[in-house]
Amino acid sequence: MGQNMQVCLSKDPVGIPVVDDFEIKTSPIPDAADDQVLCRTLYLSLDPYMRGQIAGRHLSGSVAPGDLMRGETISEVVNDGSGFVAGQLIRCMGGWQSYSLQDPTMIAPVSSEISPSSFALSVLGMTGLTAYAGMVWQAEVGKGDNVFIPSVTGAVGSVAAQICMTRGARVVGMAGGPEKCLGALESIGVDACIDRFEENLTEKLEEYFPDGIDVYFDLVGGTLLSDVCQRLANYGRIVLCGLMAEYNRKEREPGPSPGLLIGKRAQVSGLVVYDYEARRDEFIDSLLPLILNKTITQQEDVTFGLSNAPEAFCRLMRGENYGKVIVDLTQE
Ligand SMILES: NC(=O)c1ccc[n+]([C@@H]2O[C@H](COP(=O)([O-])OP(=O)(O)OC[C@H]3O[C@@H](n4cnc5c(N)ncnc54)[C@H](OP(=O)(O)O)[C@@H]3O)[C@@H](O)[C@H]2O)c1
Repeated sequence: MGQNMQVCLSKDPVGIPVVDDFEIKTSPIPDAADDQVLCRTLYLSLDPYMRGQIAGRHLSGSVAPGDLMRGETISEVVNDGSGFVAGQLIRCMGGWQSYSLQDPTMIAPVSSEISPSSFALSVLGMTGLTAYAGMVWQAEVGKGDNVFIPSVTGAVGSVAAQICMTRGARVVGMAGGPEKCLGALESIGVDACIDRFEENLTEKLEEYFPDGIDVYFDLVGGTLLSDVCQRLANYGRIVLCGLMAEYNRKEREPGPSPGLLIGKRAQVSGLVVYDYEARRDEFIDSLLPLILNKTITQQEDVTFGLSNAPEAFCRLMRGENYGKVIVDLTQE
């Protein structure tokens, strides 16, 4: 009988997670009941929100020591039944394991137009939807907007930057280190990219935004938000989306002064991607043609093998990923 490998949390990480915070368990592949679908995991998405689940402060719930790590997967249906056929590709919350039992009402077929199918976790999946919802539906980025996007080579940031450029905006990014900055300029095509480790942020924001920042997509939190607000244009829009600079810490940054935001007539909105689930098809219809004709590309940061998922997640939380972090289990 085959085995199901599972990656569980072994203990609460202190600060940035390390591989020892996780443990690998094996058990027999489970049998599906009549109202369940047995699925084999092909691709697992690793995302920063998982650090929030471990810390017990995420909207989607928590993961405690001993629990299986949760996560979205592209999986293959193993047996016919419940309206699904063996071999069919589906998207589900399979978790960090090689096989999962799914409720058929909670899984979604992956269209054959989405190729590679891992794109249903990245540019045409949750992170792409986040980018689209933030830049198109919330900030309504348009021609002539000057947009600032940190983590610009990351999963959400890279897609957000490309979406803004297709809408006629000018994008300046920020990334960690010269290699990522070069990639942002050459592969993503941003106007300029600030190296967050090497360059003076205030000076660079002044240089690149002489007329102010019209749209800021906040994927980072920390002190950056206050710095950016100093450079915001009148009527600037800020979409608050992520806290990469704060997930590994217990403390929170106080944030910018309300007086500053009032003076700028700023429009600040919080983004929760789950709110846009009902519009997922609309987003895919809009983005798919741009992906098929290569106007928008997605760099994936792929790790092979489920046993290497903990290190891939630790790299993500250290900020060392380039593109959407995916674990490929297809060879197992
Ligand atoms: N609100 C929502 O519904 C929603 C949905 C999806 C994602 N998000 C959030 O959006 C953000 C981006 O997510 P993603 O999946 O696209 O991740 P990602 O950008 O692919 O990876 C995270 C990146 O954050 C950057 N970073 C900046 N400051 C950092 C710090 N102090 N420590 C570590 N890394 C730092 C790193 O890039 P550089 O080194 O290049 O700066 C790192 O590569 C996250 O905060 C995530 O939680 C929110």
